[in-house]
Amino acid sequence: MKRLIVTMLALTMLFALTACNSNKGSEVSQELTESPMTENVESEPQILDAKALVVYFSVPETMNPNNMTDEEANSTVIINGEVLGNTQYVADVIQRNTGGDIFRIEPETPYPTDHRTLVDLAKDEQNRNFRPVIKSHIDNLDQYDTIFVGYPNWWGDMPMILYSFFDEYDFSGKTIIPFNTHGGSGFSNTINEITELEPNATVNKNGFTVSRNTVQDSETKIISWLKDLGYKK
Ligand SMILES: Cc1cc2nc3c(=O)[nH]c(=O)nc-3n(C[C@H](O)[C@H](O)[C@H](O)COP(=O)(O)O)c2cc1C
Repeated sequence: MKRLIVTMLALTMLFALTACNSNKGSEVSQELTESPMTENVESEPQILDAKALVVYFSVPETMNPNNMTDEEANSTVIINGEVLGNTQYVADVIQRNTGGDIFRIEPETPYPTDHRTLVDLAKDEQNRNFRPVIKSHIDNLDQYDTIFVGYPNWWGDMPMILYSFFDEYDFSGKTIIPFNTHGGSGFSNTINEITELEPNATVNKNGFTVSRNTVQDSETKIISWLKDLGYKK
């Protein structure tokens, strides 16, 4: 009887050990076979399924394609006879190549188009840390995971209306991808500024910046930047 009990105990232990090992074995092989699949399943929807929103602010200093002054020509791109602001043009290329939606930040009180008046007003707004009122609003921000945000460099910073914009919206959990146009200063410190204004968003440091002198020839570069980021549709 004693021998029978010992034999049964030994058999039970052997079975338990075998079961244990075979479970582990199947876990490992599951990990090995499933891990690449899981990676795909997790990463694809973020890039391919999520809709992007392209937000921009731009002040073309004229809407007339004829007889432009140098300053007017500096702040505009003409496409098929239509005048676009420099940043507006970049926003347009991004929107077409991502299939995202587009939103233009517009002030309730329009900016002057006379260059000197605009430059002085912008400086004054910056000195007063002023927040211009934005005319219209994004009412369905929830559907976007990625927000491209574009602006011209004004006095080594973002135009103050971009501060109004970042005051208004909370981009927690979303990705912000900055782009800008400029007359030589590039982004200045604006990407860090955005990171401070939206601490719970992921701000992409690899933004797109282009000089007003070459903006009209920048489509290919914008497209290859979008490809590198994984947002080219
Ligand atoms: C008010 C104002 C301030 C500017 N300040 C700067 C500056 O500090 N650095 C710079 O590189 N360009 C500066 N620029 C040039 C603009 O960044 C450039 O022309 C830009 O492409 C204009 O974009 P938009 O046509 O989309 O408004 C300034 C332009 C304006 C109107």
